[in-house]
Amino acid sequence: MAQGAEVVFVDGVRTPFGRAGEKGQYWNTRADDLIVKAMIGLLERNPGLPKDRVDDVAIAATTQTGDQGLTLGRTAAILAGLPLSVPGYAIDRMCAGAMTSVTTIAGAIAFGAYDVGIAGGVEHMGRHPMGAGADPNPRFLSEKLVSPDALNMGTTAERLHDRFPSLTKERSDRFGMLSQQRVAAAYAAGKIQPDLIPVAIRSEAGWGLATEDEGMRPDTTMEGLATLKTPFRPHGRVTAGNASPLTDGATVSLLASQDAAKELGLSIKMKMVSFGFAGVAPEVMGIGPIPSTEKALKKADLSIGDIGAFELNEAFAVQVLSFLDHFGIDDEDPRVNPWGGAIAIGHPLAGSGVRLMTQLAAQFAEQPDVRYGLTAMCVGLGQGGSVIWENPHYRAAGSKGAK
Ligand SMILES: CC(C)(COP(=O)(O)OP(=O)(O)OC[C@H]1O[C@@H](n2cnc3c(N)ncnc32)[C@H](O)[C@@H]1OP(=O)(O)O)[C@@H](O)C(=O)NCCC(=O)NCCS
Repeated sequence: MAQGAEVVFVDGVRTPFGRAGEKGQYWNTRADDLIVKAMIGLLERNPGLPKDRVDDVAIAATTQTGDQGLTLGRTAAILAGLPLSVPGYAIDRMCAGAMTSVTTIAGAIAFGAYDVGIAGGVEHMGRHPMGAGADPNPRFLSEKLVSPDALNMGTTAERLHDRFPSLTKERSDRFGMLSQQRVAAAYAAGKIQPDLIPVAIRSEAGWGLATEDEGMRPDTTMEGLATLKTPFRPHGRVTAGNASPLTDGATVSLLASQDAAKELGLSIKMKMVSFGFAGVAPEVMGIGPIPSTEKALKKADLSIGDIGAFELNEAFAVQVLSFLDHFGIDDEDPRVNPWGGAIAIGHPLAGSGVRLMTQLAAQFAEQPDVRYGLTAMCVGLGQGGSVIWENPHYRAAGSKGAK
């Protein structure tokens, strides 16, 4: 076995994201059809890949029942037209599902067991509401293993506001508004659309095509945000305007060893440098990406100053702000989520990790002066996940984030 292979991100795509619920564009679309559509799009974009060279398919979902059950990686592979010889499996690490699909396939490539793998995730939060069907062990609460606040993500975000008084509602709202404005600007400049795979959708009006993220609110103002209800606590600070919305969507990526990518003539959009996952107190799960990033930086022998581009999942504004404060980064730093984030685009739990990677890859192509980038996210029940990537287009002169 050729151990110690370099892992590369060949390509990543996603469906447009939809608003969860009866009025959302995917209400009549199956969750597995979302991931299958994304996989077909990925394969069509990479015609040089012989389909029988895919060694494995890892697909994540948080709620693995119904149309998100039955070992998604295997069912999606068959439905997407991969040969029956290609195996597949399902992954769950809640919000970091797709990220864990990527790191798991990457581990197999780095070990030399695989040359090529497909990794992604899906969540149809309309058909599978958060926590539906879960039966948490009563010991969690009776033995005070976790605070009751730990089981509601919005309440964990309120707890972060409590813990860090400098993270005011005003800062969270401003961050939420900035996310909306940045996504609108990125759409206007055509930055997001190239990596979207349109999905045929059915509604009472007949057949249509989903081509855009449905949750965007480009006209968001601070005045409008100030009037929103605080659903997780009376007089709280977390609102629909500074939280990610409930979302339906799927994402998928193609990973390979550097040698296999070269052999097959596949693009190399990013090189994986390191990754880390970490646990924190579940009632403040939003700070999870801080220790996971510290772990990933340490493994890579890098410091935060080496990172020239950040794609941070915006589960809640306050949670990203806690990360930025910890690392001494300004709320409006242009290196952070330059094309906006989950507050505007949406956060289909187990799907989001690969969206971050796909956007980082596109930014790397535009910014050859950036050498390293970070994708990071918080995870329910108190975890964080981080992956550090290197830009293959990097050229040293006058570089930001050069080591
Ligand atoms: C916050 C949350 C409860 C809001 O749910 P919701 O009430 O269904 O959200 P809506 O989109 O209907 O927004 C609520 C209201 O705010 C308004 N609103 C939302 N965003 C707005 C914005 N940016 N500007 C102005 N108004 C806005 C909506 O128009 C709506 O107004 P209405 O009640 O007059 O119709 C829900 O999005 C949520 O739970 N988010 C967190 C998801 C989560 O935990 N993910 C996992 C993370 S770890």
